Amino acid sequence: MNITNEQLYNKRRYFLKLGAGALVSSALVQSELMALNFFPDPNNEKLKLSDEKIATNYVNFYEFSTDKKRAVELAKNFNTKDWKIEVSGEVEEPLTLTMQDLLTFPLEERIYRFRCVETWSMVVPWVGFELRALIEKCKVKSEAKFIKFTTLFDKNQFADQASFFPTLDYPYVEGLRLDEAMHPLTLMAVGMYKKPLLGQNGAPIRLVVPWKYGFKSIKSIVKIEFTKEQPKTTWELANPREYGFYANVNPNVSHPRWSQANERPLGDFFTKPTQMFNGYEKEVAHLYKDMDLKVNF
Ligand code: MTE
Repeated sequence: MNITNEQLYNKRRYFLKLGAGALVSSALVQSELMALNFFPDPNNEKLKLSDEKIATNYVNFYEFSTDKKRAVELAKNFNTKDWKIEVSGEVEEPLTLTMQDLLTFPLEERIYRFRCVETWSMVVPWVGFELRALIEKCKVKSEAKFIKFTTLFDKNQFADQASFFPTLDYPYVEGLRLDEAMHPLTLMAVGMYKKPLLGQNGAPIRLVVPWKYGFKSIKSIVKIEFTKEQPKTTWELANPREYGFYANVNPNVSHPRWSQANERPLGDFFTKPTQMFNGYEKEVAHLYKDMDLKVNF
């Protein structure tokens, strides 16, 4: 997807013309009402969407369970009422954003390819806003070089967090370099398939970074911190040899235990070649031009 200012301008005009017609409302998890007003994605690339049922049922959300089916089952009761994101670290003033605050950012539909490190892939119509819109509101100090995200920690809601031997060292933490975070493709998603996110997909708000392996797209975010140093992320801490901080989709760099050359789109039987930066090379390759992608994997 190639977003030019002109395209964005046209999208805004289209939205204004659409007016109330673009209003989509539906029940948020736990019946909290959330109306999603968004600019539709014209799908210029003609990407074939993954089946909604599969995309909402074949999930990774370890806090609930490492078992995909069980995670969906447990997420049915996920309570996201009064959700807030705390913003702190290298900012002029820390702030707290409620979902009402977050939904004032301009919402857009974004049809993105999504590639999991486990080699399955999907194409999802997300609804969200550009992370950079939020960052611009935060009066970030010049010392800030990275952004760190944290998922909710709540043993009453997350069975694996409450377990005697949790699978990961919770809370789940992810991070981006500030320029990656400011990239117009980097999305804070609040919905998919025109509806608010379901618990299992990271309700009520998650990150989506389409050129990176799916584990970077952290779910159910409660904290955003601007940092001077590169944050230690959950998967990197769990296994630094297998999961790097950058995690850019790269068919030429194998995972130590499997090849990343191909992927299986959800719902398909056959695999297909994985694209460099998951097909977003034109948009993001410049961010890494001086880096050895085999070392900074
Ligand atoms: N975020 C949290 N908090 N916990 C997780 O277990 N799994 C990650 C990512 N975000 C995960 C997470 C992984 S491995 C992937 S592939 C994607 O979420 C999956 O997103 P989906 O289940 O909506 O397809």
